Amino acid sequence: MQRGKFIVLEGTDGSGKSTHAKLLAAALGERNIPTMHTFEPTDRPVGQLLRRYLKGEISTCERTIAGLFLADRLDHITHPEGLIATLDKGVTVICDRYYYSSIAYNCMSESTEWVTSLNMAAKELLSPDLVIYLDLSPEEMEKRLVNRDYKEIYETVEYQRKVRARYMDALNALGDRVALVPCNRPKPQVAEDVLHAALALWE
Ligand code: TYD
Repeated sequence: MQRGKFIVLEGTDGSGKSTHAKLLAAALGERNIPTMHTFEPTDRPVGQLLRRYLKGEISTCERTIAGLFLADRLDHITHPEGLIATLDKGVTVICDRYYYSSIAYNCMSESTEWVTSLNMAAKELLSPDLVIYLDLSPEEMEKRLVNRDYKEIYETVEYQRKVRARYMDALNALGDRVALVPCNRPKPQVAEDVLHAALALWE
């Protein structure tokens, strides 16, 4: 049996990752490609702890948080119904956020090297077959965030600008296959580009 493909969706807050992850999963399913949609932080124990941190209910240092995101990721990869088990069954995985999110969000007060090497040193770490980056210009980012009714700790425009810059550096540096999709366009057009980039994996 052919192993499933591992597709990661990344982007700043408000870029529409969750919507496009679901649309992509449905579109691949229609083409008889068995697909699972998943996300980080997960809804397992470490992921639940991280969601409390994101809501501002707990505070701790940045390295602790980066370590917890990696712990959540390793659990996501290795648990009995996790990424490895799913890919091995021939199912394609669409993952909403992965290690690029750690590099982009969890190294604001220092260089990205520590978080990058921490992630890369974990021997269980899987490299994505494709990273789809939904790119939102800083101006559009601002409009979308202003219209949100609640704010998680990272949802300020200034912060998101830094996040975008770190994403760009990491996408260029790590050597994964990347498709950059501008997403300040109508949803169907963005969805078409996302699907096109994904289907190229089977060509
Ligand atoms: P989530 O509720 O999934 O929001 P979104 O729909 O915008 O993806 O929140 C995920 C938050 O977690 C997001 O602000 C980025 C942050 N995050 C990190 O800081 N590091 C990580 O490694 C990951 C996976 C996410």
